[in-house]
Amino acid sequence: MDNYGIIGNPVAHSLSPFIHQHFAKQTQQSLLYTPMWVEKNYLSSMLQVFQRSGGKGLNITAPFKEDVVNLVDTLTERARYARAVNTITFLDDGSRVGDNTDGMGFIRDVTLNQKMTLKNKRILILGAGGAARGIIVPILQEQPALLSLLNRTEEKAVQLTREFASLGPIRLANVSQVEAYDVVIKASSNDLSTLPKAILAENSICYDLSYYHQPEFRRWALQQNAAFILNGLGMLVEQAAESFYLWRNVRPAVAPVLALLKQKNAEKPSSR
Ligand code: ATR
Repeated sequence: MDNYGIIGNPVAHSLSPFIHQHFAKQTQQSLLYTPMWVEKNYLSSMLQVFQRSGGKGLNITAPFKEDVVNLVDTLTERARYARAVNTITFLDDGSRVGDNTDGMGFIRDVTLNQKMTLKNKRILILGAGGAARGIIVPILQEQPALLSLLNRTEEKAVQLTREFASLGPIRLANVSQVEAYDVVIKASSNDLSTLPKAILAENSICYDLSYYHQPEFRRWALQQNAAFILNGLGMLVEQAAESFYLWRNVRPAVAPVLALLKQKNAEKPSSR
C-alpha cells in the first residue's frame, strides 16, 4: 500500500485525510493517507524519514508551505510563482518535486463547480500574503478585465502588483473611490477591520478562501447584496483532487466528497 499524508502544525483539524481516503475508495486506489504533526525544527528530518520509509507524496499545510520551497529539488512553475508548496511528490530516483495546487483548486471551484467565468471580470483580492500570492497568477491566466489588491500593509500589495505586472492587468485598489467588482476574494487571515466601500456589480461573488466563513466578511457581503457568498470548501476539495491526480494519475470526482463535507458542516450546530 502506498503512503501519503499531510504535514502541518496544527493538523488534527485537517479535512485532507477524509478527502483523500474518499478519493482512494472512489477510484479503487490502494493507499494510506495520514495526518502528521511536526514542530518546525523537525520539518526537514520528518520529510527524510517519510521518504526513506517509502512515502510517495505529501501535502503541506500551515505554517510550512513556504519553508518546504527550500526542501525540494525542483519546483513547478505554479509553486515558484506562489513561493509556496502544498504538494510534494517523491520520485523513484529519490528526488522531490514541489508543486502548488491551491490556485488551480480555486479556479476549478469557481469555473467548474460554480460555473462562473473570471474572463473580463473585475476582481478584488483582500490581502497580500501567501494565500493571495497563490491565486494571483492563476486568476491572471483567466484573463480578467482587472485584478485589484487591497491590503492592510499597502507596501506588500504594491510589491505583488510590481511582481506580476507583466502577466496581466493587476493594480492597487483605489480606496478613495467606490469601485465596482464582480468578484471579491478574501485572502486575509483575519476578519478585516475596514472593508472597502466596493459596489458589487450584478450577480457578483464574494469568496472567502478559508473553508468556514468569517462573520465580518459574510456580513459585509450580505450588506453589499452579493449574489453568491462562497467559502473555500470547494477549493479545498479541488486542490486535493489535483494533488491526488499528480500522485496517482487518476482524477477523482469532486462532487460526492464536497456534498459529504457540506452535509457534515450543516450538521454542526454552529455552522452557517
Ligand atoms: P496567508 O498564508 O493565510 O495568506 P499571511 O501570508 O500571513 O497568511 O498573510 C496574512 C494576510 O492577512 C496579510 O494580507 C495580512 O495583512 P498584512 O500584510 O497587513 O499583515 C492580512 N491580515 C492579517 N490580519 C489582519 C487584520 N486584522 N486586518 C486586516 N488584514 C489582516
